[in-house]
Amino acid sequence: MRDDNIQKAATLLRDGKLVAIPTETVYGLGGDARSDSAVAAIYAAKGRPQFNPLIVHVASIDDAKQYVKFNTAAEKLAAKFWPGPFTMVLPRKKDCALSLLVSAGLDSVAIRMPAHPMARELLKISGLPIAAPSANRSGRISPTQASHVAEELPDIMVLDGGPCQLGIESTVVDMTGDHPIILRPGSVTLEQLQAVIPSASVAGVHSDIKSPGMLASHYAPTKPLRLNATSILPGEGLIAFGKPIAGAAMNLSEHGDLQEAAANLFRMLREMDASNVQSIAVMPIPETGLGIAINDRLKRAATR
Ligand code: TXA
Ligand code: MG
Repeated sequence: MRDDNIQKAATLLRDGKLVAIPTETVYGLGGDARSDSAVAAIYAAKGRPQFNPLIVHVASIDDAKQYVKFNTAAEKLAAKFWPGPFTMVLPRKKDCALSLLVSAGLDSVAIRMPAHPMARELLKISGLPIAAPSANRSGRISPTQASHVAEELPDIMVLDGGPCQLGIESTVVDMTGDHPIILRPGSVTLEQLQAVIPSASVAGVHSDIKSPGMLASHYAPTKPLRLNATSILPGEGLIAFGKPIAGAAMNLSEHGDLQEAAANLFRMLREMDASNVQSIAVMPIPETGLGIAINDRLKRAATR
């Protein structure tokens, strides 16, 4: 049954069509990364600004090396973090067969080998590099279960791989220079990177925006969002973290577990946005470990 769906998805992709695919981070809207028309269809389906380049998913490190140049640091990081929620921005090879559109004009490609078994199977069976941004309309909340995709992109086939285990997008790291620079925080933390490459750092707020997905307003619900809430104001629905305030509608994690909170984050924002509250409030999340990525997404969701 499952295999039939993966076969069907592989056939659609080979025909230049789009398929929404489960990954361990969030669902992706996938298309053949070598095909300009498939990549253009992704931008169109998302209503995404053209300047925002996409992540290319591959089945193996060897496949990645067909398209991008690895330096020693990239070798080490791939060995450590692939397959997994980890994306490296690397220089395109001269003969790179990927659509130029996936790079949106840059001479680099963001590439990752996902860990979700269905994604891996699809990559293997299709034999394609799959370009896949998160499978939401541009600027909206990333989908963490198949039904989220179906709500926003009703015409697209969704491979249902269950709820995403991590629930927050991959860590994006610029590897085009000598030192890894985190462009987008994610499940793989700075500390984990530094354990492999000590010089790894995080892109400063004032650095060139090399990862356009880091634009301030992103992941936005349609309702106003208030952060670090320690009370509930009239009309608000509160998403708690840890020990809840009386009247909280939802809790990211009663035990204060950041991984559980990350996995629940986008689903709860979405459910609150769809409920009858006037605005959304979220309790403070500690700025440590995965909390850094969670707060990053929340800040963007609160910016309008
Ligand atoms: O977990 C994830 O990464 C999910 C799943 C589906 O793999 N994908 C995802 O893709 O979040 P997307 O397109 O929503 O975010 C890609 C991020 C954006 O911040 C984009 O600007 C950045 O990666 N990016 C892509 N190509 C880049 C490049 N060549 N240089 C710098 N940043 C790049
Ligand atoms: Mg996205």
